Amino acid sequence: MKYPQVRLRRLRENPKLRRLLGEHRLHLKDLVQPLFVKEGLTDPLEIPSMPGQFQFSEKTVLEEAKKIESLGVSSVILFGIPAKKDMKGREAFSKRGVIQRTVQSLKKKCPNLLIITDVCLCEYLSHGHCGHIHQGKVLNDPTLKTLARIALSHANAGADVIAPSDMMDGRVAAIREVLDKNNFKHLPILSYAVKYASSLYAPFREAAESAPSFGDRSSYQMNPANAKEAMREALTDLEEGADLLLVKPALGYGDILHQIKERFSCPTGCFSVSGEYSMIKAASARRWLDEKKVVTETHLSMKRAGADFIVTYWASDLARWKILDQK
Ligand code: PBG
Ligand code: ZN
Repeated sequence: MKYPQVRLRRLRENPKLRRLLGEHRLHLKDLVQPLFVKEGLTDPLEIPSMPGQFQFSEKTVLEEAKKIESLGVSSVILFGIPAKKDMKGREAFSKRGVIQRTVQSLKKKCPNLLIITDVCLCEYLSHGHCGHIHQGKVLNDPTLKTLARIALSHANAGADVIAPSDMMDGRVAAIREVLDKNNFKHLPILSYAVKYASSLYAPFREAAESAPSFGDRSSYQMNPANAKEAMREALTDLEEGADLLLVKPALGYGDILHQIKERFSCPTGCFSVSGEYSMIKAASARRWLDEKKVVTETHLSMKRAGADFIVTYWASDLARWKILDQK
């Protein structure tokens, strides 16, 4: 069958039919809002490279989370910025650390919110790398012990999902083991299994005060040139007990997400990272782009690639704009 009998435009003329035939939809329930909590802060502090996103104090983050919950967003992922960093990353696993305290209060204040905690060391170590350092190198195995300790402290505080983002080998197994030993057999691990060494994380590093003081992260995060390696990363994490996977960044990595969904059929999300946010915000502020339309389109592309959920700085904006499920 071909033209003129076949006319694909017939399905596009009528908006009601167009809506009926939409293959993918963005739902509020797909979205996870990242939140930054900074110890010792009083008022929220806007992040210069991420207009509309803030570092919150331990008190104001609760108010923000309450707002997010009432808008109908069901999940948040927390990033902590400690008052002091050191060479051991002590504040990352302290019982009284900024994330541990925040999780405890959030559980009480927002019982309907799913609380995911990012597990990493870059915000807590003086040098800003995601693992312990010896002679300028990021050490793998000694870092695993600390990561497991951080994960357990988040579990004890009441986190619903533990999300390691460090990219050390064997971290999912190390975290699974410590959780299982401590009566957290049922606590799921969301692994940032496929995390590329992307230049799009720059604004996040300003927000989380976590830029490495020397070198870069390419000895542990993935080379953007590689796709097959992403399958190995996903497979090893699944074998180690990861329950959910995350691909990061989102924009430009839809092929990776799609292949992972095809191959492993496991719950997989993507992280629309800080640089994606900043690019679109900056262009929209100049009216070069229509923010709402671009955000709807980019996030739909993530759904099309296969995302079961999307970590996005626009989660609460998308809820506020009330444009979801309409097209
Ligand atoms: C830290 C971490 C990063 C992001 C999430 N967790 C940055 C990095 O690897 O330097 C990036 C998130 C974003 O850019 O929005 N392990
Ligand atoms: Zn890190």
